[in-house]
Amino acid sequence: MKYAIISDIHANLEALQAVVEDAAPRADAFVCLGDIVGYNANPIECIHIIQSLCPVTVIGNHDLAAVGLRPYNDFNPYAQAAIDWTREQLSSSDIAYLEALPMCAPFGIDQTYLAAHGSPRHTDEYLFQAQRIQANFMYMRQFEPNIHCCFVGHTHVPMIWECTADGILLTVETINADAVELDSTSTYIVNPGSVGQPRNGNPASSYIILDDAAQTITYRGVHYDILAAQDKIYDAMLPMPLAERLEIGR
Ligand SMILES: [Fe+2]
Repeated sequence: MKYAIISDIHANLEALQAVVEDAAPRADAFVCLGDIVGYNANPIECIHIIQSLCPVTVIGNHDLAAVGLRPYNDFNPYAQAAIDWTREQLSSSDIAYLEALPMCAPFGIDQTYLAAHGSPRHTDEYLFQAQRIQANFMYMRQFEPNIHCCFVGHTHVPMIWECTADGILLTVETINADAVELDSTSTYIVNPGSVGQPRNGNPASSYIILDDAAQTITYRGVHYDILAAQDKIYDAMLPMPLAERLEIGR
């Protein structure tokens, strides 16, 4: 079984369509790590695609904000403006769909994979610092001992962290890697990067293919029509910096 694991779509329809086109011939199933809406201008279309494409989908912090399940006065002003706008677009059935999404979802034949948004322990936790990553591996060992790989989004930065059987934390280089081989004795936290608002300095949409049989993870970078996505942001009168950041991938 091959899974296309996508995250942080953020209402960017052009990016989502390009990723789906790239992934469809390479994957048997899609998994979504949340933040379907926010920032960009096609929340409804993206919700409907994810709804039909991804049986395993978790909720992100922007999805929570868009349906009123999380305050968002801590978001930056551009993100707040986008949530205000998104809330005016959603129908009651879109809201019901987002509200029903779980925080975490195990998947795979033996349920050894876990989909989460920020971290295995919190939707809003940013995994950048080694100390936090280590704390999450300890959490997984205690509360999710069956999980071999936890997939997270939220930072919009592609990354693989490995915790060996001895508890040693390693960062696996993913740039230019064809396929990363998973060690059966280690535990992993894997971020596929963002479909709709990459922040790793590369404007291409990022996602991964998890090959369950081969035990490999392959990163894919997909170019999409950024100009079209930007035009929609301008037409919707969303803040201009949300359009400008797409072309620099920050
Ligand atoms: Fe996000």
